[in-house]
Amino acid sequence: MATKKKFPNGRMASIKMSGGIREILTRAGEMEEEGRSIIHMEIGRPDFDSPKCAKDAAIKAIEEGNVHYTDMAGAYDLRCAVAEKYRRENGMDVDADKNVVITNGAMEALTASFLTLFEPGDEVIVPAPYFSAYADEIAISNAKLVAVPTKMENGFRVRVDDIAAAITPKTSAVLLNSPNNPSGAVLTKEDLEEIAAVAVERDIWVISDECYEKFVYDGGHVSIASLPGMAERTVTISAASKTWSMTGWRIGWVVAPEDMRPYVNKCHQNLTTCANSFAQAGVVEAFAGADADVEAMIAEYRRRRDMVVRWLNDIKGFEAATPAGAFYAFPKIAALGMDGFKFCSWLLEEAGVSTVPGEVFGMPGHIRIAYCRAYDYVEEGLARIKKAVESL
Ligand SMILES: Cc1ncc(COP(=O)(O)O)c(C=O)c1O
Repeated sequence: MATKKKFPNGRMASIKMSGGIREILTRAGEMEEEGRSIIHMEIGRPDFDSPKCAKDAAIKAIEEGNVHYTDMAGAYDLRCAVAEKYRRENGMDVDADKNVVITNGAMEALTASFLTLFEPGDEVIVPAPYFSAYADEIAISNAKLVAVPTKMENGFRVRVDDIAAAITPKTSAVLLNSPNNPSGAVLTKEDLEEIAAVAVERDIWVISDECYEKFVYDGGHVSIASLPGMAERTVTISAASKTWSMTGWRIGWVVAPEDMRPYVNKCHQNLTTCANSFAQAGVVEAFAGADADVEAMIAEYRRRRDMVVRWLNDIKGFEAATPAGAFYAFPKIAALGMDGFKFCSWLLEEAGVSTVPGEVFGMPGHIRIAYCRAYDYVEEGLARIKKAVESL
């Protein structure tokens, strides 16, 4: 007899189970099985191989028996590599023992931070468009996402006045993501200084997801935690996933204030114990020896970005900003008179190009195009989009 106990609980019930990237991927997969040629521009999975030095180090770690639990907060040498990176590149005062927790990708870093910080009903200010998983992870932590829309005309950079206006007594944090998935927006140092001033004045946390920090094509990356007064109220999150094309290795990290870090670690420990031992060994080597791999990726992404923007500006009915970072474009399609879901389904059936509706990222009227596949492949996708859209 099936249980009469109610499920799922309110927390899981508040999560949308459909209407995301998965549905599009499933349909694209079905079409491929039917023999259709599909250009995938939906998923943010880089097409580069992981650096050889990281792969060699992981294999060596397995062969040498580094196959057991590590320190729960992460292997000491990896925590040292993370701390050293932030001291050297980001101007932050980070200590391997006091501030760093190694997690299973940025996803766990985000969830563990949310579960540590938010009380039920707390509000989290999130500039829109935003990475779709934020909504689910905030719901899992029983908090409430308060979206603050950005404007394409402003390069999708959030305005500090809009953040300030959204703050209420229930606001716990503002969640920043620069460079941004899906818009490619990069916040300037001045933007971050203004946001920092509001965070200090109104006494809120800043959670800064900097997964794409290496992929900035115009301007540079600034960590908000490096600004005066911010280290003690900022949680910085990143991962090996995008930087070195290591999405399957599942290594990320949290850099937290010293008094918060033990709680993040406790949460992480109870969620996953520790990150994979030999994957951590590989990431230590990526920090030490994969700068050239990253430089090559940046150059190639920039080349693809320039090509994507040229095409988007040449498609009637599309309007696009030039993404300053990451590997996504987020053109406006509102003039075509279809919502994002309708447009993306139509485009998939009509042109065999798989993209994601802006609705998934909290901004209807746009679609996300990921350009983390080979140059010619991406170009063929754009040519197909242009042909289909201009036949409407
Ligand atoms: C903005 C952002 N944060 C976090 C993640 C998750 O990263 P990871 O694969 O390291 O868990 C992604 C993945 O697409 C992302 O785009």
